[in-house]
Amino acid sequence: MPNPPAICTDSLTKTFGKGKTSIAAVRNLNLEVERGQVYGFLGPNGAGKTTTIRMLMDLVRPSAGRAEIHGRNVREAGALARVGGLVEGPAFYGYLSGRNNLEVLARTANDYRPERIRALLEQVGLAARAAQPVGAYSMGMKQRLGVAAALLGDPDLVVLDEPTNGLDPAGIQEMRGFIRGLAKEQGKTVFISSHLLNEVEQTCDRVAIIHKGEMIREGPVAGLLAESISNLRIQAAPLEQAEQALRERWEVARESVPGDAIPWLVVKAPPPDSPRVVELLVGKGVRVHQVVIRRQTLESYFLAATSDLHAGGPEAAHD
Ligand SMILES: Nc1ncnc2c1ncn2[C@@H]1O[C@H](COP(=O)(O)OP(=O)(O)OP(=O)(O)O)[C@@H](O)[C@H]1O
Ligand SMILES: [Mg+2]
Repeated sequence: MPNPPAICTDSLTKTFGKGKTSIAAVRNLNLEVERGQVYGFLGPNGAGKTTTIRMLMDLVRPSAGRAEIHGRNVREAGALARVGGLVEGPAFYGYLSGRNNLEVLARTANDYRPERIRALLEQVGLAARAAQPVGAYSMGMKQRLGVAAALLGDPDLVVLDEPTNGLDPAGIQEMRGFIRGLAKEQGKTVFISSHLLNEVEQTCDRVAIIHKGEMIREGPVAGLLAESISNLRIQAAPLEQAEQALRERWEVARESVPGDAIPWLVVKAPPPDSPRVVELLVGKGVRVHQVVIRRQTLESYFLAATSDLHAGGPEAAHD
């Protein structure tokens, strides 16, 4: 393949333990991440995000299937040469300063460039605290140092496990801008995991949603959003007549809001349908008081998408 994808997995699977108590952490995962994208790997706690990332970084061995980075199986020597990673809870020497920790890592990789370390500390917003021991760092500061460490070797692919964990709102905002810049300005591919929808919504080009080790959705963030913005809320009179007319074409539910004189009709119609909805009502002699596009958040979309699976019963490892 002349230009293989940044990440490609084929039925990637990880089962911990054996027998009845085994946990299928990742099941038959097929991922493909194009170069230059910011790709979000979204899932609730325990979904299998970290386990997947650990397999991508060759920190844990798949039970079945394989993972390739830039067209090479990650288990091959040298396959991860152009990859930088931050995996859950980065480990640093507590008694060394942030700068010293990066220096140790750079020297170990035989790539010690003081000016690169200085620039990275600046970029992740740690320059002012770089001389302090890491033991005195807050969680957010350690997280920033972890991101700097992932970027030390100027990798083409950056894999970040929940990069905004422990950051305050301003720090989250900064980190998002920084991550987008890695792709848009420096042409890197970024793979980030998160359990926060708005994070992925604001940072990523494409997203995979994983739940109980399985991928349940995949696509461009914009596409998933379009899918999630699906309801129109209407106040119209006479109510029964409006409801009846709408039912000919769409799914309709009533919703009473305390304080509102008449109930709302919630119509399962995408926003582009709204002129047709209004036309239909007006054509039937119904007075339309209000039409509101209800933008379902990706959050509630995500809950709905994963709740089908919750209904499947207790978590168990399938054979
Ligand atoms: N070393 C291990 N031994 C046994 N079970 C494990 C191990 N690592 C992970 N698991 C289990 O695998 C499942 C997936 O865990 P994982 O850490 O990959 O989830 P996650 O999506 O990263 O969750 P979080 O959002 O909480 O970080 C969980 O049920 C977890 O308990
Ligand atoms: Mg995790």
